[in-house]
Amino acid sequence: MDTAGRGIMSGVVSHRLRCLITAGPTREHLDPVRFLSNGSSGKMGYALAASAVARDWQVDLVSGPVALPPPPGATVVDVVSAEDMFRACAPLFDLCDLFIAVAAVADYRPSAIAPEKLKKTGGPLRLDLVPTVDILRTLGERKRPGQVVVGFAAETLDLEANARRKLTEKNLDWIVANDVSRSGLGMNADDNAVLLLGRNGERISFGPAPKFAVAEFILGQLMR
Ligand code: CTP
Repeated sequence: MDTAGRGIMSGVVSHRLRCLITAGPTREHLDPVRFLSNGSSGKMGYALAASAVARDWQVDLVSGPVALPPPPGATVVDVVSAEDMFRACAPLFDLCDLFIAVAAVADYRPSAIAPEKLKKTGGPLRLDLVPTVDILRTLGERKRPGQVVVGFAAETLDLEANARRKLTEKNLDWIVANDVSRSGLGMNADDNAVLLLGRNGERISFGPAPKFAVAEFILGQLMR
C-alpha cells in the first residue's frame, strides 16, 4: 500500500476495521488542585469517533477530560495527563488499523507534582517544566506496514508549512491542519475548517462546517 487508506479500502484488511482516536486536552498537574492545560473541547475527536462508529468500525477513544457524553458504540478510555494518554494508547495502537491523534496534548509538564496544595509566598513562582512524551511521534515510529497514522496540526501561523513539517517528521500518512487563530472555528468551537495533506501530495480543503461533517469528510478521504 503506497497511499494511506487504499489498502483498507481495497480489502487488504478483511476484518472489521479498528480505529484508535485520541481526543480532548491533557492536564499536567502542579499540585493536587492545579494543572496546566488548554481549551480543547474534544468535539473534533468525538465527532470522528461517532463517524467511525457509523461506518461500523471498532472504535477505541482515548480521551482527556472533556464535558461530552461518550459516543455510543465507542470504547472510551478516560485519561488525565499526556503520560496516561500514552500508556493507554500504546497497547491499543498495536491492535488498530487506523490511528487518528486529535488530542491537544500538553507539550510540557511540571518536573514534579507537589504532594500538597502549593501555598502563595507573595513573591514570584517559577515553574520548572519538562517535555511530555510525543504520543503521535513515538507510536508513528513503530507503524506496521498497512497501518494508517493521521495527525492534526493546530497552528496560528504558517499553517501549511508547519503541517507539512509535522507530516514528514512524525512519519504520518495524513495530517489535518487547522488554523486555531480563526474565531468560531477549530479549538473549542462547533465548526471547523481544515486542510488535509497526504504523504503522496494530496491537498484538499474542507469547511467551515460542523465538526461531524468535517469528520465525515476526513474519513471519506482516507478511504478513497
Ligand atoms: N501530539 C501528541 N503528543 C504530544 C504532542 C502532540 O500525540 N505530546 C499530536 C497531536 O495529537 C497532533 C499532532 O501531534 O495530532 C500535532 O500536535 P501539535 O500540538 O499541532 O504540534 P506539536 O507536535 O505539539 O508541535 P508544536 O507545539 O511545536 O506546534
